[in-house]
Amino acid sequence: MAEETFYRELGLVNTRDMFEKAMSGGYAIPAYNFNNLEQLQAIVQACAETASPVIIQVSKGARNYANATMLRYMAMGAVRMAREMGSEIPISLHLDHGDSFELCQSCIESGFSSVMIDGSHLPYDENVALTRRVVEYAHAHDVTVEGELGVLAGIEDEVVAEHSTYTKPEEVEDFVSKTGVDSLAISIGTSHGAYKFKVAPGEEPPALRFDILSEVEKRIPGFPIVLHGASSVVPAYVELINRYGGNLEGAVGVSEEQLRRAASSAVCKINIDSDGRLAMTAKVREYLANNPKDFDPRKYLGAGRQELIDLISHKNRNVVGSADRLA
Ligand code: G3H
Ligand code: 13P
Ligand code: ZN
Repeated sequence: MAEETFYRELGLVNTRDMFEKAMSGGYAIPAYNFNNLEQLQAIVQACAETASPVIIQVSKGARNYANATMLRYMAMGAVRMAREMGSEIPISLHLDHGDSFELCQSCIESGFSSVMIDGSHLPYDENVALTRRVVEYAHAHDVTVEGELGVLAGIEDEVVAEHSTYTKPEEVEDFVSKTGVDSLAISIGTSHGAYKFKVAPGEEPPALRFDILSEVEKRIPGFPIVLHGASSVVPAYVELINRYGGNLEGAVGVSEEQLRRAASSAVCKINIDSDGRLAMTAKVREYLANNPKDFDPRKYLGAGRQELIDLISHKNRNVVGSADRLA
């Protein structure tokens, strides 16, 4: 007998049905990180306008920044905003890179419909045990759980991994069956942040390890895979930021072509944070530089928000393929 489902009263859904449809439709659900009002407004508006299911996700750091209670009602507001726009898009509120059972439990109790428990830096058996414990609690409340095998380079909240370790395909079957997770994040060459690859000027970044992905798919056919570190680090934003006083020399991301290829495979969830940050920062910098007398946050944050709407619409339509998928 299922226990109380905390998120339902907020109008949210878990990711089960979304992933089933994404798997059979050959696209991915976009998971956009947010920390503030303007980012969330942009995500909702763009996803409602493109008729795209969406995962709105929050890291531990974002939850501390925004306040846990505020976030709960922001998520409810996101659903209401979409409905008032006449849109029935499913919205899931997801904890990104949860690092403890207690954090996952607290998020579930405050209305998250999906959580990630990231034990990827732990020894294998400890990752299994921690993930299993979260799954038992989460499933009792009809919340879906994402686990992770393999380590991405870069910063994952407070955990900094200098070197990545690719997922070992021979571990995935055992991990999925022992833990009962609903989706699995894997490491195939992406990393978090704006500096994903070190490349000389004019050189192409290395390809993702699609061989590992297809080996994983063979071992757990039809199982939803998650791709972290999936920002393209849009060059136009990097240029704009650098033009208006920033310094992001050498910032490189994953090509849209590779992301489209991933989205058409068993990858059902694609995580995007850095591109949204870059879009906002670029437009805020540009606005402030061109309007030195303005000091109304609605003006410069509004410029950032509009760019984020355009970016998310583009990603939904042309990269993850989640637009017009409500039928
Ligand atoms: O994977 C990390 C996400 O981009 C969240 O980053 O911990 O700085 O909020 P954050
Ligand atoms: P990016 O830094 O590439 O946007 O990755 C975000 C992410 O994986 C959040 O979990
Ligand atoms: Zn991540």
